[in-house]
Amino acid sequence: MAGFVKVARADEIAPGEKVIVDADGVLVVIVNCDGEFYAIEDVCTHDGGPLGEGDLEGCALICPRHGARFDVRTGDALTLPAFEPAPTYAVRVEDGDILVEAY
Ligand code: FES
Repeated sequence: MAGFVKVARADEIAPGEKVIVDADGVLVVIVNCDGEFYAIEDVCTHDGGPLGEGDLEGCALICPRHGARFDVRTGDALTLPAFEPAPTYAVRVEDGDILVEAY
C-alpha cells in the first residue's frame, strides 16, 4: 500500500472535465463529476481501451473504442460490450491538491 499520492490541483479540473494522471505507476482518470472528484483506471475492461480519451456524460465515462459506459463513482460497467467494473480509487482533496490512494 503506497498510500495517497498527489496527482493534480483541484482548480485545474472544472466540473465536467477530466485528466489522466500517473498515480504511483498506474494511469488513472481523475473526473470532476458535479463538483466531486473520482478516480477510475484508464483501462477499459472490455478490450483495454483508453477510457480517459473518451467522452464524459455526467458521471459516465464512455470508452472511445467500442462505446461501453462506466460510472466513474463506482467503476460499474453500465453498457455492453463491457460487463466487468473498472477499478476505482479513493480520492481526497487537501489544501487544493487532489490525492489518490495508490496501491
Ligand atoms: S475496449 Fe472499451 S468498449 Fe471495447
